[in-house]
Amino acid sequence: MAKGTRCMALLLLVGLAARAVSAVPDGLLPNGNFKDGPGKSQLNGTIVMGSHSIPFWEVSGFVEYIGSGQKQGEMILPVPEGACAVRLGNDASIRQKLSVTRRTFYSITFSAARTCAQAEKLNVSVASDSGLLPIQTVYASIGWDSYSWAFKAMHSVVSLAIHNPGVEDDPACGPMIDSVAIKTLKPPQHTKSNMLKNGDFEEGPHVFPDSPWGVLVPPMDEDATSPLPGWTIMSQSKAVKYIDSPHFVVPQGSYAVELVAGREAALVQEVITVPGRSYRLFFSVGDAGDGCKDGMVVDAYAARENLQMRYESLGVGGHRRAEVGFVAVGNRTRVVFQSLNYHMKPDGTLCGPVLDDVSLVSVRKRVARRLFM
Ligand SMILES: *[C@@H]1O[C@H](CO)[C@@H](O)[C@H](O)[C@H]1NC(C)=O
Ligand SMILES: *[C@@H]1O[C@H](CO)[C@@H](O)[C@H](O)[C@H]1NC(C)=O
Ligand SMILES: *[C@@H]1O[C@H](CO)[C@@H](O)[C@H](O)[C@H]1NC(C)=O
Repeated sequence: MAKGTRCMALLLLVGLAARAVSAVPDGLLPNGNFKDGPGKSQLNGTIVMGSHSIPFWEVSGFVEYIGSGQKQGEMILPVPEGACAVRLGNDASIRQKLSVTRRTFYSITFSAARTCAQAEKLNVSVASDSGLLPIQTVYASIGWDSYSWAFKAMHSVVSLAIHNPGVEDDPACGPMIDSVAIKTLKPPQHTKSNMLKNGDFEEGPHVFPDSPWGVLVPPMDEDATSPLPGWTIMSQSKAVKYIDSPHFVVPQGSYAVELVAGREAALVQEVITVPGRSYRLFFSVGDAGDGCKDGMVVDAYAARENLQMRYESLGVGGHRRAEVGFVAVGNRTRVVFQSLNYHMKPDGTLCGPVLDDVSLVSVRKRVARRLFM
C-alpha cells in the first residue's frame, strides 16, 4: 500500500515536471493579439518605451502600440478583431521565447497590414531559420492579411522574432502586426493510394477562426520548412492562399489552396519516380465561393506532360475533377500547379482557382495485369 502511494507521488511529480517544460499549445501565443498593452507611463504617445513593457514580448527599435481607430495624419489605421496591434517602424522587432518540442515542425501564422512604406517586408526568424516575407501586395480588401511561416525546432526553447528590416524617411512607416499563433505540423506521409504527401491540403498553418481572409503561404527555398507540409511555393515574391471551409467553399475536407498570383507563383511537390514508368495525376479545380467570377485555367505539369484544366467560375463555389497521365523521365518528378491568369474580385483583391484533392498513382500494376490476361 505504502509502495503504491509512493509510486503515485512519483508519477505526480513526473507529471508536474513534464507540465513545467511543456511546449506552447497550438493557437494564439501568450498575449499573441497584444490585448495586454504597455502601461501609460511606458508609452510616449503611441511609441513603446521599455523593451519589456508589452507582456510576454520583448521589443526593440521604433515600436508603436496601436489601438483601434488610431490615426496617422488623415489615415485611420483599422485593427480587426483584437482591436490592438503593434507597428514595427524602422529596424524594429518583436520577440517571444517559446517552449517547444525538439525536432518538431511548427508553423507560425500572423496578421499584418501595410501602412505607408512602399515595399514592406518582414523577417520572421527562429535561431538561424529565417524567412523574408514580402507584404506589399494586399490580398484582402480590408488591408490585413494573414501570413504563415514554418521552422523545425532545434532546441526546446526558441526565440521567435518578427523584424522589419526596412528603413524609411518616416520611421513610423512600417507594417502593423496583429494576432500571432503557432501550430505543430505533422510530418506528411504518402499513402498506398497517393504518392503525394498532403495532397488534400488538410495539414497546414493555423487559420484564425475569426479571420475570413485565409492564410497566405509565401514563397520559400526548396530546403526550407513549409507551412504547407509536402509542398513548396516557388515564386519571386508572390504567395498562394490557404483557405478553410468555415469561410470558403472547398472541394473536399476542410482546407484547400487558392492560386491567387497567376503564373507568378507555383505550387510544387517532388516525388520519387521510376524512369519510363507511367503515372496518373488527379486533382480538383474549383472556386472558393468568394465572388471570384471568371474563366479560369489551372496549368498542371508533370514530366513532359501539361494539362490546362479549364473551369468556369460563377464565384459561388463548385469544382471539377481533372486527370492527366505521364511517363516519368527521371528518378524524381516535379508536380507543378499554377493559375494561367490573374483574377480579381469586384473589390479589387486578388483571387483565383482553387486546387484540392491532388493524388498521384503509378499505373504499372494495371498495365502488367492486362499483359497477363
Ligand atoms: C516623446 O517623443 C517625442 C517625439 O515624438 C520626443 O521629442 C520626446 O523627447 C519623447 N519623450 C520622452 C519622454 O522620451
Ligand atoms: C533575418 O533575421 C535573421 C535572424 O536575425 C538573420 O540571420 C537574417 O540575416 C535576416 N535576413 C534579412 C534578409 O534581413
Ligand atoms: C537515378 O538514380 C541513380 C542512382 O542514384 C543514378 O545513377 C541515375 O543516374 C539516376 N538517373 C536519372 C535519370 O536521374
